[in-house]
Amino acid sequence: MDRILITSAIPYINGIKHLGNLVGSQLPSDLFARYMRLRGHEVMFICATDEHGTPAEIAAKDAGKDVATYCQEMYHVQKELAERFHLSFDHFGRSSSQRNHALTQYFAGRLEENGYITEVIEKQIYSKADQRYLPDRYVRGECPSCGYANARGDQCENCTKQLDPTDLINPYSAISGSTDLEIRKTKHLYLRQSLFRKKLEEWIDSKNDWPILTTSIAKKWLFDDAGLQDRGITRDLDWGIPVRKGTEPWPGMEQKVFYVWFDAPIEYIAATAEWADTNNLTDEAWERWWRTDKGAEDVRYIQFMGKDNVPFHTLSFPVTIMGSNDPWKLVDYIKSFNFLNYDGGQFSTSLGRGIFMDQALDILPADYWRWWLLSHAPEHSDSEFTWENFMESINNDLANVLGNFVSRVTQFSRKHFGQTIPLNHGWTELELNTIKRLKTNLEEYENCLEQIEIRKAAQILRRIWSYGNEYIQEAAPWVKLKSDQERASTIMNFSLNLINFYGIVSEPYIPETAKLMRGIFKSSSSLNWPHDIEHCLKSLDPLILVEMPPILFKKITPAECENWKSQFSGQSNQSHDT
Ligand code: 2FM
Ligand code: ZN
Repeated sequence: MDRILITSAIPYINGIKHLGNLVGSQLPSDLFARYMRLRGHEVMFICATDEHGTPAEIAAKDAGKDVATYCQEMYHVQKELAERFHLSFDHFGRSSSQRNHALTQYFAGRLEENGYITEVIEKQIYSKADQRYLPDRYVRGECPSCGYANARGDQCENCTKQLDPTDLINPYSAISGSTDLEIRKTKHLYLRQSLFRKKLEEWIDSKNDWPILTTSIAKKWLFDDAGLQDRGITRDLDWGIPVRKGTEPWPGMEQKVFYVWFDAPIEYIAATAEWADTNNLTDEAWERWWRTDKGAEDVRYIQFMGKDNVPFHTLSFPVTIMGSNDPWKLVDYIKSFNFLNYDGGQFSTSLGRGIFMDQALDILPADYWRWWLLSHAPEHSDSEFTWENFMESINNDLANVLGNFVSRVTQFSRKHFGQTIPLNHGWTELELNTIKRLKTNLEEYENCLEQIEIRKAAQILRRIWSYGNEYIQEAAPWVKLKSDQERASTIMNFSLNLINFYGIVSEPYIPETAKLMRGIFKSSSSLNWPHDIEHCLKSLDPLILVEMPPILFKKITPAECENWKSQFSGQSNQSHDT
């Protein structure tokens, strides 16, 4: 049994996330966590809300709430939506927790002691109308790179270039719209990332199994232009983690907080400590996941994130860890994702374009979305959601292939063999051949999941389901019923066992439906990985009752598809504006 630590990039608190966000980290990490648990490994699966920085402040202001109240409320909204999508976090924390405050200040102190922090006099934009500094997203203006008129101070949404607020042409305050801005000098702390260039390069070069997407982005930042730059880790904001050196004050930094990207990844560790606190466990319980001097040397640590998060996880956060000179666990594998587009354009929170997590669940159960998103995950290139493709995939894969098999088998069995499982009178060549095919495919499925090849694994799972239909078509129990009752009984026994098998192996993708499938065999089904397929396909006790399942998946009609398409086209869908 291995110990696997899994973290999902922590979503910003500033509103309900869209399906593009979901498929970029939380959902695939859940698939992997579920699979690893099923294989009997000890898993710690962590996520949280990212509550600091200008996104949180601006969203709270737009909602007319103070930031703390806004974060508190939105945390519960996001947590509940995660549960409704069956995201099986061991803990869903908050980056504003006491644990994260203390740990972030601790790391800053260690980095300072070790000489990896410098003080830099920076030029910052000050707004006289707002009587405050305007960091990051508080300034908007023209992008110097692509000319986009409404670029944010931290990054241009149009061309994705990372910006500094002072780079913007014709800047204005995102708070008041005022253009009465001036440049003032103020002191900030910088993390001396440039000192780690060689060490990071060696470390990344040693990871020859990482996805190309991950390493190519890391390398770009290491070597592009002037190479890896030192980075400001403090901001002039009220909301955030106060700048301290461990538990001591930091002279000259009294009015400042840490930059959101400094404290957010530290929350992975802090959230694990929150998990221990919530469960009344001691520090050893979380430290054994994170401290290599306290048991974490055996842990395999895997991170999931969208490609825009990769630089922070391959460079900045590792520098925080390495620079602390403490034995904290470094990540072993980074699974990153491209973007999911929506019907010919981008998902956009600000334009209300696309489907948001709450809206998705208002129209269909979580498993429909999980299946489509995971089987179309933007792993090797960007992918696109279209309603037609969604309808096709749900109707074919879920309704026709899996749902149809389950309902045919259960109905037939109940009708002709009553309430209990029909007896197995001995397998024939047909069952043995089916098992052979299942075995090969199950091995392939396991390999893909092991390597986190999510789309490929979904294709194989679909194939595994389709063997059920092929089997029953060829076995034709409706013909055998008249001539050979025992054979018909064996066919139904095998088919019901197949449903049980599907109820186990499909669990990572469609956990709710998988549970329903296992629920057909109430007393006898257990969630153990079918290491031995023959054994698994004989495992149902013939005395147990077959409960009729509800319809597993209803087909999507072209009319519904059209309807949703216009409902989610943007413009009219403004409720998620932040
Ligand atoms: O891109 C985002 O949504 C960020 N909130 C991700 C942070 S991940 C981490 F570092 F914690
Ligand atoms: Zn631009």
